[in-house]
Amino acid sequence: GAAQAPDPYRPVYHFTAPKNWINDANGLVYTNGQYQLFYQYNPFSADPGHLSWGHATSSDLLRWTPQPVALTEYQNPDGSNTMIFSGSAVVDKDNTSGLFPAGQNDGLVAFYTGHVERPGVVLRQHQNLAFSLDHGLTWQRYAQNPVLDIDSKEFRDPKVFWYAPQQKWVMATVKADRQQIYLYESKNLKAWTFLSRWGRAGNTVREWECPDLFELPVPGGGTRWVLLISAGNPTEQFRGQQYFLGSFDGQSFTPDQPYDEASYLDFGKDFFAGVTFNDAPDNRRVLIGWTNDWAYARDVPTGTQWRGNFAVPRELSLRRTAQGLALVQRPVPELRKLGKAAVNLKTLALKPGPAGYELPFRGEAYDLELTLKPGTAKILSLHVLQSEAERTTLRYDVARQELTLDRTQSGNVGFHPLFASSLETARVPLQNGLLKLRLLVDKSVVEVFAQDGEVTLTDLVFPRQHAGRITLAAEGGTAQVTALRLTNLNQPIAP
Ligand code: FRU
Repeated sequence: GAAQAPDPYRPVYHFTAPKNWINDANGLVYTNGQYQLFYQYNPFSADPGHLSWGHATSSDLLRWTPQPVALTEYQNPDGSNTMIFSGSAVVDKDNTSGLFPAGQNDGLVAFYTGHVERPGVVLRQHQNLAFSLDHGLTWQRYAQNPVLDIDSKEFRDPKVFWYAPQQKWVMATVKADRQQIYLYESKNLKAWTFLSRWGRAGNTVREWECPDLFELPVPGGGTRWVLLISAGNPTEQFRGQQYFLGSFDGQSFTPDQPYDEASYLDFGKDFFAGVTFNDAPDNRRVLIGWTNDWAYARDVPTGTQWRGNFAVPRELSLRRTAQGLALVQRPVPELRKLGKAAVNLKTLALKPGPAGYELPFRGEAYDLELTLKPGTAKILSLHVLQSEAERTTLRYDVARQELTLDRTQSGNVGFHPLFASSLETARVPLQNGLLKLRLLVDKSVVEVFAQDGEVTLTDLVFPRQHAGRITLAAEGGTAQVTALRLTNLNQPIAP
C-alpha cells in the first residue's frame, strides 16, 4: 500500500501552497490555455505576514502547477514597507495600456492593493498595477504607481473587468470601513475616474472586502449582475460572504433587493474572499474562495509547514426557485474526471435508530452524492470523518426544513473558542419531496452542496482519529436513499 500520508490535514484535491501561509485567491484570469491563480502568500512562514502574490497554473482548475512567487512586498525609499494585498488581473488584448510591445495581444495587467506600513502602523492602502509579457511568469511593477490613491487606510481589493457596452475597463474596490463599494472607469488601465459608490456608510464594526461584480444570464432570458462582498455575518463574530443581485449600467450598481437583505453565498464558517476568473472560456463564471475565517485562521492546527487552502472552484449560475432568483454554485465539472467510483447504490431503506447504515467505504478524501426521501423520518443524519469518538455531522430537520453542519464533535476544536462553537444552519426546502446532497470531503475540509448547489456550507475540521467511516441514520421514522454515489479521490493529484 501507499506510505502513510505524513500530514493528516493537507487536502488532496483542494488547493494548498507547497508550503507557508495563504489567504485570498487573487488575479484570477484565464489566458494561453491556462487558469492563472495568484494568492495572498507569506514566502517565509505559515503565519500571515510579508504578504505577496504566490502563483500556480492549471488547465483543469484542480491540478495546479506551482510557479515562482509573482509579486513580493517591497521597501520604500522612506523606509516604509508595501505589502501586495488582494486584487485581480486582466488580459489587455488591445494593449489599451500601451505597456506591451506593438502587436502583443496577451499582455497581463495585475491590480493589487499596496498596503503601506511601518511596523505596526498602517499608512495607506492604494491601488497599483504590474504587468507581465510572459503569461504571468514574471512581472514588472508600473513605474508611476499608485494608479489610484484616495488617501485612505481602508481602500482595497480592486477587481478590474472589461465592460464591453462602453468599451472601457471598470474597477470595483471597497472602502472597507464604510462598508461600501467604490466603482471607477478607465480607458487605459492607468488613469481611473470615479463612477459611483454603494453600500451603507459608517458601521466600523464590520468591513467589506474583496468585491466582485459580473453579469450572469437568467434562465428564460435577460441577465442580472451579481455583486459579491466578503463581510461580517449577522453574529458579528464571524465573517462571511454575501451577494446582491441587481443591475449595472456602466455607472452604478442598483440592487434588486434592499441593502439589509443580502443573501449568503455560503452558510458554513469557512468560505471567504471568493472571487471569480476574468476571461474564463465558454463564458463560464468560476469562483475560488479561501476556506477559512480571519477570526481563527492563524490558529488552525495544520502545523508549521503550511496553513490555508481554497475551496474546489465553483461554477456559478442563476436559477429560478420557489424563493426567487438564486445564485447557484456547483463544483466545476472537471472534478468528475478525477477519482475512482467506489460506491454506487440505487436504493436503500433507512430504518429509524441511532446506529444507521454504514457505507462500504472508509476514507477521508472523496466526492459523495446522494438523494434522500425523508418518508416518515423527522431527522436525517449523515456522519463523515467518523471514528469512535469523532464525527462531522450533516443533519436535516424535516419539519423545519433546516440543514445543519455540526463540527462540535469533529476532532480538535479547542484551538479557538469561535471554532468550537460552530453549528451552522441553512434553510433548505425539499424539492419534489427530495433532498439532494453533495459532499466534498478532503481531510480537513468539508464542502456541502444542497439541492444542486442552491445552498452551500463549508467548514474546516481537524479529526484526531482517522477511521474515516461514513454512516447514514434516520430518527422518528423510515427514510429512503434513492441514489448514492461515492467517488474516491484519495490519491495525490500530481500535475
Ligand atoms: C481579505 C483581506 C483583504 C486584503 C487581504 C490581505 O481576506 O483582508 O481585504 O486585501 O485579505 O491579505
